[in-house]
Amino acid sequence: MVNALVTGSNRGIGLAIVKELLRDKRVKHVFATHRDTAEIKHLKNIKDERLHIIEMDILYDDEIMKVVGDISSIVGTDGLNILINNAAVLYDYDMTGNVLRKLMCSQMEVNSASVVVVTQSFLPLIRRAASNPGGRAIIANITDGMGSIETCDGATSRNATVYRMSKTALNMFTRSFGLDLRKEKIIMIGLCPGKTKTEMGAEKPEFSPDQTAKPIVDGLLNKISMEHASLILDRHLNPVKY
Ligand SMILES: NC(=O)c1ccc[n+]([C@@H]2O[C@H](COP(=O)([O-])OP(=O)(O)OC[C@H]3O[C@@H](n4cnc5c(N)ncnc54)[C@H](OP(=O)(O)O)[C@@H]3O)[C@@H](O)[C@H]2O)c1
Repeated sequence: MVNALVTGSNRGIGLAIVKELLRDKRVKHVFATHRDTAEIKHLKNIKDERLHIIEMDILYDDEIMKVVGDISSIVGTDGLNILINNAAVLYDYDMTGNVLRKLMCSQMEVNSASVVVVTQSFLPLIRRAASNPGGRAIIANITDGMGSIETCDGATSRNATVYRMSKTALNMFTRSFGLDLRKEKIIMIGLCPGKTKTEMGAEKPEFSPDQTAKPIVDGLLNKISMEHASLILDRHLNPVKY
C-alpha cells in the first residue's frame, strides 16, 4: 500500500497527479496540500475517502510541521512512501527593468528553499516508509527543462531568468542530497513534466494536465528504481540534460 503527498495540488499538474494516484487501488492515502482554502473547489469535487485535503503553504515552517504531525498520526508505522514537491511559482522578472530584490528572493524561496524545508520536515515519515520490509520511498521534485544550464538559450520571452535559476538550484539539491539518500534506499529524483497547459503553463503547451500526470504516476508507482536515484528525468524517466 502507498501513502503519497502532493504539494500545490489544488490546480494544474498537482491536481491531475492527485486524481491519477487515486485511480490506483494500491494507494491508501493521498495528502493533497494547498495554500489557499478559497481555491480548492476542484479538490472538493473529488469524492474518495482516501483523499485528505490539507492546508499547507510551503513558505511557513510551523504550518509544515503541524501537517507532518497530522499525517504521522494517520499513516503510523507505514510512513510516507511518495513526496511530490510540485508547488512552484513563475514570476516575470525583467533583467533590463528595476531591481526587484523581494520578488527575486520570493521566487527562489518558493521553488528552491521551500522544497528543501518540506523535504527535511517530512524526512522522518519517508525514512519510516523506506525502513519497512519491502518498503519504497520516493521524493520527486518537479523541475523544468528551463533549469538546465546545458540547454539554456536565454531568458525567453517570459523573462524567466530567475525562474530558471530557481529550478537549477532545485536540480542541485536533487543531485546532491539525492546521492546521500541513496544510502538509505530513498529515491530522490527531479522530474520534468513537459510543456503542460496550466495557469503557469508553457508558451506552447503540448499536453493537458491529465496527459502529463499519467506517465508521471505510472513511473512513480510501477517503474522507478534505485538506478534513477538523484537523476533529473523526463516524465518517462529518461535522463535529461541539466
Ligand atoms: N506547466 C508546465 O508547462 C510546466 C513545465 C515544466 C515544469 N512545470 C512545473 O510543474 C509544477 C506544477 O506547475 P503547474 O504548471 O501545475 O503550475 P500552476 O498551475 O501555476 O500550479 C502551481 C501550484 O503551486 C501552488 N503554490 C504556489 N506557491 C505555493 C506556496 N507557497 N505554498 C503552497 N503551494 C503553492 C499553487 O497554489 P495557488 O493556487 O494557491 O497559487 C498551485 O497549486 C511546478 O513545479 C512547475 O515549475 C510546469
